[in-house]
Amino acid sequence: MTDRLEVVFSPLTAATENVAVAFASDELALGSRLKDLNAKSGGAVLKAAEAGDFKGKAKSAIEILAPPKLDVTRLIVIGTGKAADLSDLDRTVLGGTALGHVLARKCASASFIAEIPDSSEKADLIAADVALGALLRHYSFKKYLTRKSTSDDSASNGPRDSLTRLVIHTADPDKARTTFLRHKAIADGVYFARDLVNEPANVLGPVEFAERVKDLERFGVEVEILDVPALEALKMGSLLSVGQGSVKPSRVAIMQWNGSRSKRARPICFVGKGVTFDTGGISIKPAAGMEDMKGDMGGAACVSGLMLTLAQRKANVNVVGLIGCVENMPSGSSVRPGDIVTSMSGQTIEVLNTDAEGRLVLADVLWYAQERFKPKLIVDLATLTGAIMVALGKDYAGVYCNDDRLYADLQNASAATGEKIWRMPLDKSFDKLIDSKNADVKNIGGRWGGACTAAAFLHRFVKDTPWAHIDVAGTAMDATRTDISQSWASGWGVRLLDKFVGDNHEKPEK
Ligand code: BES
Ligand code: MN
Ligand code: ZN
Repeated sequence: MTDRLEVVFSPLTAATENVAVAFASDELALGSRLKDLNAKSGGAVLKAAEAGDFKGKAKSAIEILAPPKLDVTRLIVIGTGKAADLSDLDRTVLGGTALGHVLARKCASASFIAEIPDSSEKADLIAADVALGALLRHYSFKKYLTRKSTSDDSASNGPRDSLTRLVIHTADPDKARTTFLRHKAIADGVYFARDLVNEPANVLGPVEFAERVKDLERFGVEVEILDVPALEALKMGSLLSVGQGSVKPSRVAIMQWNGSRSKRARPICFVGKGVTFDTGGISIKPAAGMEDMKGDMGGAACVSGLMLTLAQRKANVNVVGLIGCVENMPSGSSVRPGDIVTSMSGQTIEVLNTDAEGRLVLADVLWYAQERFKPKLIVDLATLTGAIMVALGKDYAGVYCNDDRLYADLQNASAATGEKIWRMPLDKSFDKLIDSKNADVKNIGGRWGGACTAAAFLHRFVKDTPWAHIDVAGTAMDATRTDISQSWASGWGVRLLDKFVGDNHEKPEK
């Protein structure tokens, strides 16, 4: 719910806005436009660089105030380091860094001169990459701020953020505009995911979540919503047991994007945990920090954002996104520790801890996805365990995968997008820990390896489909702030999975 930032592409030589940002590479290499500006201003750029000992190194910057004879009030020059080494991701991050400088200056409009001297990359891609980084950086969640300003208005997050227009100067604006369409689709998907995660649980319950994804029909996604009677008819007793204590009824949403040129191609499925609020249920959580559990639908938000991105860029692939939306509350009708429920697969589950609810939701949605769609592969995303944060911290998501090829593809997409993953073990020794005396399986292991026993539980609901489970508890919410993500909700995974789909599942079939 960020105030709109209008991004426009304009020729290199067009007039710049009041605040302009340009890039200089290692050894103080300047682009053609920056050289012009330097000449016009009587060498102001090079003089400032000399005075500030600026040589274009990565992470360095100088600011020239009121440069003579130029129509800008400030010219900020950011170092890129060695231009030849820059990846797509580096350029995107650079766009985020540049926007950070602009936001701190509190201006209404700004220009980026999107030239990276000595770079071998095409001008349109440079322009589109920095524009994407700027958009990702600009996001903030301000829809509930009604006062004009507050005492702790920070540079980029206060309601006074005034930036509305960003002009990207580039050698070929028409081409850049076309290239940017794909980048814009990614930004839209990330924004959608972040908005869903940031939304408080009184506003976004399972019903409202499903309504928001229903809206993806505008972009050509087919969306079905299953209500409680439909879920009962499907015998999703595991998922339904989680929502039974809440006054908010559960929903499953199924989003289909059929973009493949061969319409009958088997789809790939993405499954998301959508617990709109997780109190823990009868096994209630402690009060401190419980507010964060409004974000316990980060997996489902990522799947929804991904569907929006794929539809907006008309991806040549058949993809199904399935999300299980429930609220986990304690009440007279809640599931109790010791209760035994029957999942759609027929397997019975002893619920020993009602706070291990995400796996109960996923068990049924994973099963349904396989039964109905016979997918080529399944990836699920879930804010599943605190234990994954103990193991990997806040910057890596843990991945459990039954297929080395699938993991390798995810790893490549991870390296390209900077959304980091680390492979974790799926092993029989964890599976043993969830055998139950009273039912086929129990929903908790023991004290150790909590993320691994959670994955082992999910594994029992996967047949022989290639499958990856991504535990995003550390990365989806309360995320580390970066140059391209300043929000509590990161939208983690949209960029990773868009890249994964694009690189591995949109190539013409052999
Ligand atoms: N949603 C939580 C996991 C979580 C915790 C996500 C903190 C993000 C931040 C999940 O439903 C949960 O409560 N897991 C329990 C499992 C335990 C009861 C076996 C946990 O991790 O403590
Ligand atoms: Mn829980
Ligand atoms: Zn949870």
